[in-house]
Parts: sequence; structure tokens; C-alpha cells
Amino acid sequence: MTRTALITGATAGIGNAFARELARRGTHLVIVARTTDRLEQVAAELRAKHGVDVEVITADLATIDGIRKVSDRLTEAGRPIDLLVNNAGASSAGWFGATDIADEDRQLDLLVRAPMHLMDAAIKAMSGRGQGGIINVASVAAFTPRGSYSAHKAWLVNLSQWANLQYSDVGITVQALCPGFTRTEFHQRMQANIADVPRWMWLKADNVAKASLKDLERGKAISVPSLRYKVLTAISRHAPAALVANIAKRGR
Ligand SMILES: NC(=O)c1ccc[n+]([C@@H]2O[C@H](COP(=O)([O-])OP(=O)(O)OC[C@H]3O[C@@H](n4cnc5c(N)ncnc54)[C@H](OP(=O)(O)O)[C@@H]3O)[C@@H](O)[C@H]2O)c1
Repeated sequence: MTRTALITGATAGIGNAFARELARRGTHLVIVARTTDRLEQVAAELRAKHGVDVEVITADLATIDGIRKVSDRLTEAGRPIDLLVNNAGASSAGWFGATDIADEDRQLDLLVRAPMHLMDAAIKAMSGRGQGGIINVASVAAFTPRGSYSAHKAWLVNLSQWANLQYSDVGITVQALCPGFTRTEFHQRMQANIADVPRWMWLKADNVAKASLKDLERGKAISVPSLRYKVLTAISRHAPAALVANIAKRGR
């Protein structure tokens, strides 16, 4: 049973959907993001609505100090975290090679270094207790070559698959959650042009979080919410590499 979950990026989008769903189930929360006002607002709302404890950590996970703050909480003796949701993320606009390399560094730190450190801290703390869950929010983008964002998500999928095998014996389930297009603040923040994305391709963040938690209970290493994306993902994973590369070339 999950008593306390730590969620990064819990003030908006998919992370916020996890926070609301877990609070509804009576799970105490530790929520992380950069904007304190928004964190406090979410915390107050969930405490009032569901009577759960909600602790707030303001941290920029693209920095080593921010990561340390959250890692320290994950390994704190006497206050165990049963579920880590490594969700915080953002993407630079533009393709690798045309973007500012400093932006690429920040994206790498947020999408790879932060989940790596937090997963390391969580595994160390959870294996001592013989139970725990980790959800790493990746993307269906992990299954097609599309610039550095998809490469970072592919890294997360690969490590999660291995960690789920490696640590299931000590009671830890590790999942890579791979959603498709989901209505959140993500695309607006990166100023992406999403006008061409057909309506049927959009998922609701609430449904993504619920599907992931259901798959976690089943011990699944990869969770792809919705039938339509299960089909698309199967095609992109098993189609000839040249065909996948050709489709990927057409745009984000
Ligand atoms: N939306 C999609 O279509 C989609 C599809 C597949 C995968 N994903 C993945 O899903 C995850 C969540 O994305 P979302 O769509 O829910 O995005 P979102 O609506 O933009 O929410 C992002 C959350 O992360 C926090 N955050 C951003 N940068 C941070 C930093 N440097 N340090 C700490 N917290 C930070 C934000 O709060 P602050 O700004 O206050 O820090 C916010 O709470 C990401 O990993 C993304 O790659 C999204």
C-alpha cells in the first residue's frame, strides 16, 4: 500500500493529475516544483479536499542543489516515501544542432540527471524496506528517433526496464510511463505549434495517471496509456528502422 508519494512537477499537467488521484486514494504527498505559490495552492486544495498531509519542496531539478534537496527527502530516515513519480519535464523549442547548447544542457539535466539521482536515492531507501514503486515519466517519443528530447526519454525507458527486472526481487517496481500527446502546459511552455495535431491524438492527464497506477499494480515495466497509442507504439517499435526514421523526419 502506498502511504506517501513524492511527485516532481506536481503543480501542472500529468504530475498534478498524479497528485489529485493519489490524494483521492488517501496517499500523503510530497510535491516538488520551482514555483512555491503554485505548490502551496495545490497543497492547500488537496489537504482540504482529501484530508491528506501534503509537504511542499521548492526545487529547480535542472540544478544539482535542487536535486540534492529532493534526494535528501527521499532518503530521510523515519519518513519513508513509498512511491516516487519522476515527472518534472520541459523541452527546448527547436531541433538539436540548431538550439543553444546551454539549453540542451539544462534539458539533459532535468530529463536525465534529475530522474537518475532521484531513482538512485529511492532505490537505496526502498530496498532497505523491501518495498516501493518508481514511475519515470518518459514518452512515446522514446520509440522514434526525434532529436535530443526523444533520446533522453529513450534513456529513461531503457534504465527503467532494466531496474524493474533487477529490483523486483527486493519488492521494487519501476515503470517507464510513455504517454502520447497530453493536454497540459507542456507545449505552450515550449511554444510548439500543435495546430496540426489531430484531436483523436490528445489524451487527458487524469486518464494517463490512472492508467499508469493500474499498470504499476500489475508490475509492468512500460505503461502506454490508451489503445490508440498502444497500437502506434507497437508499429513504431516493430516497423523497419528506415520507415520509422522517415516518419520521424517529418516533424515533432
Ligand atoms: N504533455 C505531453 O504531451 C507529454 C507527452 C509525453 C510525455 N510528457 C512528459 O510528461 C512530464 C510532465 O509534463 P507535462 O506535460 O505535465 O508538463 P507541464 O504541464 O508543463 O508541467 C510541468 C511540471 O514540471 C514542473 N517543472 C518544470 N521544470 C522544472 C524544473 N526545472 N524543476 C522542477 N520542476 C519543474 C512545472 O512546475 P514549475 O514550472 O513551477 O517548476 C510543472 O509542475 C514531462 O516529463 C514530459 O516530458 C508530456
